[in-house]
Amino acid sequence: MQIDIITCLPKLLESPFSDSILKRAQNKGLVKVNIHDLRDYSTNKQKSIDDYAFGGGAGMVMMIEPIDRCITFLKSKTEYDEVIYMSPDGELMGQSLANQLSLKKKLIILCGHYKGVDERVRQHLITKEISIGDYVLSGGELAAAVVADSIIRLLPGVLSDETSALSDSFQDGLIAPPVYSRPAEYKGWKVPDVLLSGHELKIMEWRTEKSLERTKERRPELLKNNC
Ligand code: ADE
Repeated sequence: MQIDIITCLPKLLESPFSDSILKRAQNKGLVKVNIHDLRDYSTNKQKSIDDYAFGGGAGMVMMIEPIDRCITFLKSKTEYDEVIYMSPDGELMGQSLANQLSLKKKLIILCGHYKGVDERVRQHLITKEISIGDYVLSGGELAAAVVADSIIRLLPGVLSDETSALSDSFQDGLIAPPVYSRPAEYKGWKVPDVLLSGHELKIMEWRTEKSLERTKERRPELLKNNC
């Protein structure tokens, strides 16, 4: 898979991709993440990428030209499945969207800033808009990293225990059951006996029961969506 992220703050995206699972996925050649500095596509001396909004009002708008030049350049090299714009008014990110996007081969993700992008970018250059939640971030970079992480960890070979992505919360529409590790007792706080029993079927049943219990308690709307 290839993910091309367009940003005017490339430094913000350095650390999420240079550690742990996302770094290993790139080292193994399972994903190529390219960060593109939007200012490199500006045509003026100051390398500016934003301007005042027509009609007035507070806040700068990201201009269409550098964005178009960058996307056109990327598209001249290869074909993309989606050109995504990170925006608080996009489609709400969820596990099912992560699953869908993990099946794609090539994605562009555009990070917004200031008052957002010139509307013509959204009309003519973008194929999908994604929000990571009903709150406004200072820019789309952290959101892009969240989306990329949720996709990359699903790629075959990225997680060492391949089944562990399948047992994530939300993967089957439920919240994951509690997990425990050694010691079996700490300060008198005990691990449930069933997990120490070695009885696989009973452990599976216990996990399903806890998953349902937890979902009912914390996210009852997920159970309604499942029916
Ligand atoms: N940019 C600013 N806020 C955002 C959000 N909630 N989701 C995606 N991109 C954003």
